[in-house]
Amino acid sequence: MSDMSGRTTIVVGASRGLGYGIATAFAAAGAPVIAVARSAMDFQAPANGAGSISPEVADAGEATVPATLIDEYEPEVVVLVAGATPHMRPLQEQTWETFSVNWETDVRITFHWLREMLLKPLRAGSRVIVVSSGAVLAGSPLSGGYAGAKATQRYLTSYARGEARRAGLDITFTTVLPRFAPMTGVGLPAVRAYAARAGTSTDDFVNQIGPVLTPQIAGAALVDLVRADATTVASDYQLDGTGLQKLS
Ligand SMILES: NC(=O)c1ccc[n+]([C@@H]2O[C@H](COP(=O)([O-])OP(=O)(O)OC[C@H]3O[C@@H](n4cnc5c(N)ncnc54)[C@H](OP(=O)(O)O)[C@@H]3O)[C@@H](O)[C@H]2O)c1
Repeated sequence: MSDMSGRTTIVVGASRGLGYGIATAFAAAGAPVIAVARSAMDFQAPANGAGSISPEVADAGEATVPATLIDEYEPEVVVLVAGATPHMRPLQEQTWETFSVNWETDVRITFHWLREMLLKPLRAGSRVIVVSSGAVLAGSPLSGGYAGAKATQRYLTSYARGEARRAGLDITFTTVLPRFAPMTGVGLPAVRAYAARAGTSTDDFVNQIGPVLTPQIAGAALVDLVRADATTVASDYQLDGTGLQKLS
């Protein structure tokens, strides 16, 4: 288990939800964290005085942003968790614009950042975590093109892993597929929509999905993943209220 102090960590999508939990967990573990999001962010300094969190207000989907921030902060850890909230409607009630919102946000951000991390390249020993979704495993009929976009993030991460290996770059690329986290921007509309479709209350729906994933659990799990020896790290993990489970 390695200490996180000095391991500069960029969390893309840190102003709320899972990303906020991840940014605060890395700071509490001692890392200097750069928290990226479009809206203003207000972070408390870690209570244990360990790491730090510096907000960077930026649209992570803009082509120039990844190179600017990677050059400025020279990160050893990058977590891509930013994403749009899908338009929770059945197919016939989607428009092309609502159907492709996660392609235009989640996939665009992943594409630009993975490219830059390979081109720079990040220093040897670096870790990259891309947050996809459990929806990739079974589809999500009420989320438009969400499951397809999240599957593309997983493919892009595996392509980056292959390119890093071909180029002899010691960078570890990992995909994490969270299950429902009901108290977050993407999770709450999703559990409400699937509860309504199942004809149950949101509380009953959440109670039947098992241990609930929270931003704090996500943060602690990803810190442990980055602290683990890279040779023991799998390519893909599912993430729920019990933590990470290897998928491959
Ligand atoms: N919550 C779940 O149940 C669940 C399940 C599976 C997968 N996921 C995935 O986990 C990730 C986080 O979900 P969440 O529920 O925590 O979402 P959330 O609460 O809506 O937070 C999304 C974060 O992404 C940031 N963001 C969005 N577009 C951005 C952009 N263009 N540039 C920079 N930052 C941007 C938002 O900040 P600004 O708006 O301030 O920019 C915010 O900090 C998403 O990729 C989601 O698909 C979530």
